Amino acid sequence: MTAVIPAAGRGTRFLPVTKVLPKEMLPIGSRPALELVIDEARDAGAERIVVVISRGKELIREYFEGAPGVVFVYQEEQLGLGHAVLQAASAPGFPGTESGEKILVLLGDALVAGCSASREMLAVSVANGGADVIGLERVPPEKVSRYGIAELDGGRIVALVEKPAPEEAPSDLAIAGRYLLDAAIFKKLATQGPGRGGEVQLTDAIDAMLHERTVFGCVYSGRRQDIGNPRGYFKALEAMGENT
Ligand code: UTP
Repeated sequence: MTAVIPAAGRGTRFLPVTKVLPKEMLPIGSRPALELVIDEARDAGAERIVVVISRGKELIREYFEGAPGVVFVYQEEQLGLGHAVLQAASAPGFPGTESGEKILVLLGDALVAGCSASREMLAVSVANGGADVIGLERVPPEKVSRYGIAELDGGRIVALVEKPAPEEAPSDLAIAGRYLLDAAIFKKLATQGPGRGGEVQLTDAIDAMLHERTVFGCVYSGRRQDIGNPRGYFKALEAMGENT
C-alpha cells in the first residue's frame, strides 16, 4: 500500500514559530509529530510513504532522508489539501488511477491518540468488500461548522458537506484526518477546480466520487489531536507526550 502525507501547508495558525519550524516537526516527547504519523502508516502496511512538502520545509526532508520507503515531493504553491495530495502522483512508481490500489492519506498535522486509526479503517474496508473509508470523529454540534461533515446511511457515506451551519449539518460526524481511497481519486483531483476558500478541496473530490464508489465511514476509537494550532498541540502533548 502507498501512503500520502501532506505536510506542505503554511501553518499560519501557529505563527510565528512556523516561520522556522514546520508544525509537523513539533516535538511530541522526544520525536517530531510527523514521525508518529509515518509510524502509523508503516504499521498499517504502507511500504511506500510519499511526504508532500514545500520550499522552506526542508527540515522535514533532512530529518527523514534515508528512512525506508519514505520519498518526498514538493507542492510549489499552497493551493489546498486536494492539490497537495495530487502532487504525490509525481512520485516514482506511484499507483496509476486504474490500478485499483488503495492510497492511505494521513494529514501530517493530525495525530491520533489511543488507537491506530489507519488499522481500524483498513478493517472496515476489508469487512465491506474493499470499500473506500474515511476516518470520522464525533464533534459537539456547535462545532460542526469547523469541519467537513459526513451524512451516513448505515455505515455508508452518502454525502459530505464542508463546514455546514449547525442547523444544516447532516450529522455530528467530522472528517478526521485519515482517508483510505482508491487511486481513482487522483483522476478527480486532476480535473477539479478550486472550491471553498479558493482551495482545491479533497472533500469535494471524494464527494464527487460517492455515486461511483462505495465509501464507508469509520468512527475510529482514538482521539484526533490537531497540532496545527497551539491549543491543539498542548492537548496532544497531554494525551501523547509522556509515551513518546
Ligand atoms: P491545514 O489546513 O491544517 O494546514 O492542512 P495549513 O494550511 O498549513 O494551516 P493554516 O490554516 O495555515 O494554519 C492540513 C494538512 O494539509 C497540509 C498541511 O501541511 C497539514 O499537514 N496542507 C494544507 C498542504 O500540504 N498543502 C496545502 O496547500 C494545505
